[in-house]
Amino acid sequence: MLKRLSAAALGLVVAAGLAACGGDDGSGGGSDDGKITMGFAQVGAESGWRTANTQSIQESAKTDGITLKFSDAQQKQENQIKAIRSYIAQKVDVIAFSPVVESGWDTVLKEAKDAEIPVILTDRAIDSPDTSLYETFIGSDFVVEGEKAGEWLVKEYASSPGPVNIVELQGTTGSAPANDRKAGFADVIKADPKFTVIASQSGDFTRAGGKEVMEAFLKANPKIDVLYAHNDDMGLGAIEAIEAAGKKPGVDIKIITVDAVKDGMQALADGKINYIVECSPLLGPQLMDLAKKVVAGESIPKRVLTEETTFTQEQAVEALPTRKY
Ligand code: AHR
Repeated sequence: MLKRLSAAALGLVVAAGLAACGGDDGSGGGSDDGKITMGFAQVGAESGWRTANTQSIQESAKTDGITLKFSDAQQKQENQIKAIRSYIAQKVDVIAFSPVVESGWDTVLKEAKDAEIPVILTDRAIDSPDTSLYETFIGSDFVVEGEKAGEWLVKEYASSPGPVNIVELQGTTGSAPANDRKAGFADVIKADPKFTVIASQSGDFTRAGGKEVMEAFLKANPKIDVLYAHNDDMGLGAIEAIEAAGKKPGVDIKIITVDAVKDGMQALADGKINYIVECSPLLGPQLMDLAKKVVAGESIPKRVLTEETTFTQEQAVEALPTRKY
C-alpha cells in the first residue's frame, strides 16, 4: 500500500517491496506495483449530471493508469459509509467520494485518517469543522450557482410590478447542492418583495421526483409564474407535468435550472427552459491529478473551484452541437 510520502521516499519504499507494510492483503486493495489504487464512493445515478460525472472519473482513471474501485451508493449515506469502510479495509491508496448529504461523516473519515488513507471530496462538501479529515475539496460553488439563478430572475422581471409566484424543486434533502442553491437564490431575490417562493419541496434530483412534485404544485397553486429547479433532470420532469396540465413551459411558467446537461440544453434551445446555470460534472482529470499529488506527498490546495458559466436560450442553440455531456 502506498502511504503519503515524498516522491523520492515513495520510490524507495516501492523498490523495497513494501515488506514492512506487509504488501497487498489479498483483498484486492492497494497494490505493491507502484500503481495508485483509488476507492471512489459515488452518490448514485440519479441524474444526467451524475452519469457524466461517473464517466469522467472512470475514463480519467484509465487514462492516468489509476486502478479504480467504484461503488454506487444509490443516494444512501449508509451505503457510502459501507463503501468507504471497505476501501479502508482493502488499504487503497486514496479514497474519493461525493457525499450524498453534508452531515454525519466524522466517524468514518476519522477511521480513514487513522489508517493514513487520504480522502478527497469531489463535487459536494461536508459540514464538519474538522478540515483535517480530508485533503481537498474539488467542485463547484453551489451558493454562487443559486445566486446566478436569482440574478437572472431579478433582471427578467425588472420592469414587472409583480407579484411573482415562484415554486422551487429542491435537490436531495440535506445535500450541499440543495442547501446552497436554495440559500444563494433566496439571498438574491429577498431584495425585492414582489418575489415569493410559494412552494418548495425536494424532488431528489431525479426526473420522476421533479414530475411528481410539480404535479402537486400545479394542483395546489392556481398561479405559478416561475419554476426554479435545482437541476435539469427535475426541471425536465416538471416540464412533462406542466404540459400535461395544459400549460406551456418556458412561456406560461418560466423555468430556471442548474447543470446544463445535453437534455437540459436541448429543452433550453427549444424554449421550454428559460435559463440554465452551468455545473460541470467533468471533474475526473483534476481529481486524478490531485490524487497522484496527494499520494506522492505533494502539497495541494484545500479547495479547488470548478469554472462555470450560464446559458440563455440563444447561447444554448450555439453551444449544443459541441456539448460534451
Ligand atoms: O452534486 C451535483 C448535483 O448532483 C447535480 O447538480 C445534480 O444533477 C446531481 O444529482
